[in-house]
Amino acid sequence: MHKAIRFHEVGGPEVMNLEDVNVGEPGPGEARVRHVAVGLNFADTYFRSGLYPSALPAGLGVEAAGVVEAVGAGVDNVSAGDRVAYTGSPLGAYSTARVMPADSLVKLPDEIAFETAAAMMMRGLTSAYLLRRIWPLQSGDTVLLHAAAGGVGLIVSQWAKLLGLTVIGTVSSDAKAELARAHGCDHIIRYDREDVAASVRALTAGAGVPVVFDSVGKDTFAGSLDSLRRRGLLVCFGTASGPQPPIQAMQLAIKGSLFVTRPALADYIADPAERAELAGELFGHVAAGRIRIEINQHYELADARRAHQDLEGRRTTGSSIFVL
Ligand SMILES: NC(=O)c1ccc[n+]([C@@H]2O[C@H](COP(=O)([O-])OP(=O)(O)OC[C@H]3O[C@@H](n4cnc5c(N)ncnc54)[C@H](OP(=O)(O)O)[C@@H]3O)[C@@H](O)[C@H]2O)c1
Repeated sequence: MHKAIRFHEVGGPEVMNLEDVNVGEPGPGEARVRHVAVGLNFADTYFRSGLYPSALPAGLGVEAAGVVEAVGAGVDNVSAGDRVAYTGSPLGAYSTARVMPADSLVKLPDEIAFETAAAMMMRGLTSAYLLRRIWPLQSGDTVLLHAAAGGVGLIVSQWAKLLGLTVIGTVSSDAKAELARAHGCDHIIRYDREDVAASVRALTAGAGVPVVFDSVGKDTFAGSLDSLRRRGLLVCFGTASGPQPPIQAMQLAIKGSLFVTRPALADYIADPAERAELAGELFGHVAAGRIRIEINQHYELADARRAHQDLEGRRTTGSSIFVL
């Protein structure tokens, strides 16, 4: 019998329970994966709380790494014994094993440990599309990155340096500031006590930045818009503090013909060739040690409630995983 975290109603961390589940055999196009490590993402809290919809009862989690145990008919991209990782739907990665669509599995190079893979498939591929697809950033550009000491934050900071960008990172504590600096942030703004837009203007000789990466949402939205230079782009890719407020299109003209996007990783890895390209870049940087995946919290599946409390309570840095 396998174990999985499931929830039957949306709400706080207490709605999650560790249950016995029957995983079964893979059908056509599917593979059964025994998990070794499972990623914990902020998005998991959105599904659990009901901010993102899910059909109840539901499993949770969108990222894991492990070993293929069996494949169904017509599967030719992986076979039993392969080391693999994935990110994406359906929910259910918080489990000791599961059946997945085989085409969502990526084979792991030998140099990438299961734990590293589980900690970076979602956060690393998100960093990849944020920096490599959304905007033609040029070496020498300055970007503003919120929650710079978080899981996505530490990866984006390191990758941005590889691209020759100057990074202004925001954090909520001195310890997080130190960590963000050690991973490539050139400037730190304590957004818990400083005016972000004013600080960005001061750091950029009044110009503002071409791109803001904002995963915090409600609390940072206004300051992010006001940190942009003319024709700049606000990338609203997360809602850690709550959903962004509505904005009148005319405001974008008044503030300098700005752009706003609300991207989802799924739309940047839907094309298998593009996913392979982004994963190849990510794996290459990690395998060569150019990007370090910092796993600063390890949990057991049975500790899922505490893990969510830590993440939502801003007590984590870098990536968090469940180790099985
Ligand atoms: N759209 C996409 O494709 C996509 C894909 C992956 C992840 N994401 C988003 O990227 C973000 C980062 O994900 P992650 O898993 O790496 O999480 P994370 O950044 O490690 O954790 C969230 C961080 O947000 C900051 N924060 C600011 N206000 C907060 C509040 N009111 N409550 C909680 N945290 C707050 C905290 O850092 P400070 O203490 O320094 O403020 C916290 O550590 C999330 O918003 C996630 O939804 C989006």
